[in-house]
Amino acid sequence: MFHAANQQNIYLAGVSAYRSSQTQTVLFNNYVERDGIEKAKTYSAVPGTSEHQSGLAIDVSGSDGSCAVSDCFANTEEAAWLEDNAHKYGYIIRFPKNKEDITGYQYEPWHIRYVGVNLANELYNKGLTLEEYYE
Ligand code: DAL
Ligand code: ZN
Repeated sequence: MFHAANQQNIYLAGVSAYRSSQTQTVLFNNYVERDGIEKAKTYSAVPGTSEHQSGLAIDVSGSDGSCAVSDCFANTEEAAWLEDNAHKYGYIIRFPKNKEDITGYQYEPWHIRYVGVNLANELYNKGLTLEEYYE
């Protein structure tokens, strides 16, 4: 996928992919300390429930790293490219805009999750989250 993006002059970088239970715990606890547990749970998964622990998710930024894992990533050409193309490579934007109540998480244009090309295409074409698909 990164190679295909390069051919369209989009240069992506991986920010965070597989995380151990220990890493997710440290991250989550830091967020709880900063924002309180209710707020933290809207953008960070309780340890044991993060897709990053499964190795199926990766947070992606532009190669210059600006706006990495930040709301401003939404306005970048890299985010637009992912939105339009990630499904072709088996990935979905896992926490879409306007689906916060369904996924339980704020919009995360950088967090893509591998589901395989067939399912990614289906979810993309129907505009469904994984939660809606499994309902
Ligand atoms: N930021 C996502 C929800 C996670 O912590 O897995
Ligand atoms: Zn993520």
